[in-house]
Amino acid sequence: MSIRLVVADDQDKLGPLAAAAVLAGLPPARPVLGVATGDSPLPLYAALARATADGDVDLSDSTLIALDEYLGLGGADPRSYTAFVRSRIAGPLAVPAAGVVVPDGLATDPDAEAAALEARIADSGGVDVQIAGIGRNGHLGFNEPGTAFDSVSRVVTLSAPTREDNARFFGDDPEAVPRQAITQGLGTIFRAGSIVVIVRGAGKAAALSAALRGPVSTAVPASILQRHRAVTVVADRAAAAML
Ligand code: F6R
Repeated sequence: MSIRLVVADDQDKLGPLAAAAVLAGLPPARPVLGVATGDSPLPLYAALARATADGDVDLSDSTLIALDEYLGLGGADPRSYTAFVRSRIAGPLAVPAAGVVVPDGLATDPDAEAAALEARIADSGGVDVQIAGIGRNGHLGFNEPGTAFDSVSRVVTLSAPTREDNARFFGDDPEAVPRQAITQGLGTIFRAGSIVVIVRGAGKAAALSAALRGPVSTAVPASILQRHRAVTVVADRAAAAML
């Protein structure tokens, strides 16, 4: 196991520490960056945006490949992950639309769309650095507990805890959260050259502890990280409290 744990003393440092971990894993030209959505990586994206604005970093020739997307939401919907990737990552990092890969949540054939995501990752030459968060139930991407470690990109049904957690983006109504999504598989994520996981807040402490210190088990999808050769976990003090 080769997990590097970085605990940020204060929230201001977390983003820059995560950005340094990401940049360290990227090749100098045409990097392929796997991107997570959600709250956890926001300080990282803000730090990368600042470095870009300051002229210290140029990721404009990157390919950004999303971890997942809700089924039923199109890119014009601000709650879609397509919208998140465009506004929070691609825009600030000056990555053109041609370099942004997010499955289409309105695809008429979602299974084919998931297969196309898997193929697109392979065609890109593979993800250099995958950015990820962890769900309170230990999910990675939208790979819920019980997912096989060798799973590939596919259509999944979201668990009740995940829909409850994400209700905050849907008017606090879990019923309004889409029931299905396209996600990269655990096997897909595992093929990334390195993985940078951002974990923030006391609500994630138990999940992080289970993922890093518990048995490697499909009951905790993020425990697959223990088997990867190059994982950096960047956590705040509250999330790291049970390690
Ligand atoms: C997001 C994703 C999810 C989130 C996880 C944590 O693309 O795949 O696994 O990383 O649900 O979400 P936040 O960061 O909002 O707590």
